[in-house]
Amino acid sequence: MPSKKPVKKNKPTAVKKIVKKEPEKNVSKKKETITPVKTAAVRNVKALETLRGMKDILPKEEKYWLGLRRNAEKMCAAYGYGYFDTPILENAGLFIRSIGKGTDVIEKEMYVFEDRDGDKVALRPELTASAVRAYINNGMHTYSQPVKLWYFGPMFRHDRPQAGRFRQFNQFGCEVFGAHDPVVDAELIVLAHNFIADLGIKSTVHINSIGTLSERKNYISELVSFLKSRRSILCEDCKRRLLKNPLRCLDCKEESCKKNLEEAPQIVDWLEESSKNFFMKVLEYLDELSIPYVLNPRLVRGLDYYCDTVFEFFAEEEGEGGGVALGGGGRYDGLVEQMGGQPTAGCGFALGVERIIAVWKKMENKEPEVAAVGPAIYFAQLGEQARKKALYLLEDLRKAGIFVFHNLSKGSLKVQLESANSKKVTHTVILGQKEVQDGTVIIRDMESGIQEIIDQKKLRAKLEKILGKNQV
Ligand code: HAM
Repeated sequence: MPSKKPVKKNKPTAVKKIVKKEPEKNVSKKKETITPVKTAAVRNVKALETLRGMKDILPKEEKYWLGLRRNAEKMCAAYGYGYFDTPILENAGLFIRSIGKGTDVIEKEMYVFEDRDGDKVALRPELTASAVRAYINNGMHTYSQPVKLWYFGPMFRHDRPQAGRFRQFNQFGCEVFGAHDPVVDAELIVLAHNFIADLGIKSTVHINSIGTLSERKNYISELVSFLKSRRSILCEDCKRRLLKNPLRCLDCKEESCKKNLEEAPQIVDWLEESSKNFFMKVLEYLDELSIPYVLNPRLVRGLDYYCDTVFEFFAEEEGEGGGVALGGGGRYDGLVEQMGGQPTAGCGFALGVERIIAVWKKMENKEPEVAAVGPAIYFAQLGEQARKKALYLLEDLRKAGIFVFHNLSKGSLKVQLESANSKKVTHTVILGQKEVQDGTVIIRDMESGIQEIIDQKKLRAKLEKILGKNQV
């Protein structure tokens, strides 16, 4: 074990001289030489932008994106869900058949085009349809049931871009196949609720039951008569929906329609005993776990494959019923069979990642409650020989699973220490010319400023010890 030596002022090493002078904060910027290049503006080249409704994710948002994903991983492992993903590009028919022709997603929003073989393909607007295809294609009915899956990835909808609505957005979702049991619906709601709560966001779930297909058929004919009697005062969208998808009139956002529909027949009155009992059981489980919910008889969801339980999450911060849904889901017991598989129950949800991050960011003084991102060590080098040696040492560390920040393109120790400070590392490894010759490195404790010289051969063990102490 190397002994801890505070830096002595009268015996400076090549590196120590610089370390001693270097102030850690407010370091004056070294003037960098700028090679004159002809900028795009000078050359009159127009810079291209992302497509409307699509955006880049930048490193400053890393803590939100990676933090959220890491939380999803941990949460799903705890609840016994297996990670899966499906291709972004699928046969368009998959979505048309499952989501339904009369829905907004299929009619107005799906990106559909012919590929070079003339096949009609689509960018996935959601993942439940693909999950059903994957369940059938991969013979998952032979797995031990229920099959519990989770995913995290991009979806595409050619929606009108506005707050919380993008054309490329990400969903974190879970799907459960092979269990027609209210406890599954409740567990999915609890998982999503806890996931949101762990970020420090309070949410409420709006919940309803839309029963079975036959119960819904009887209800829809009653609803249509009601809507026809008020057709003249419906908004233009609802007049269209009345013909194609009358259920969607129920969750119209137009104030006049909302008022009009207050007296509309409610679907729960059309449910048979078994559906009512199923729904009551879901609510009982939620009560048991103190999950706050609002019974919303007008919640029908915008995709055709649902039956029985449907739900959506809203952030309490967004105000009473206000804001866009953070996520939604429900049961889809007939879908696997409808898509060519054996009769199999299904239930799931998807949360909108951008929407959750937007609420998370708005919360005052609320830093993400997730593990710190990135290594706790910085590796600084000084001089050409040290840079070469650093290449070798960094590779050695990487092979041992020790990741350290470094910037080999910078030669100035001041700049590197400044960078180490901004990354809030606990320790910096410093390698100068003298250390290369001595076969040593300096380990600097960034908080106390104490420096220790150790043999390069002991670097790996030393860093393992430091990381063992500091890693979260
Ligand atoms: P969805 O309600 O269409 O359901 O989408 C789920 C969530 O994705 C929404 O609540 C919202 O947070 C987010 N989202 C949807 N469209 C956009 C958009 N244009 N921009 C930003 N975020 C958006 C589904 O997708 C179902 N597959 C959920 C499901 C899974 N049901 C059963 N299993």
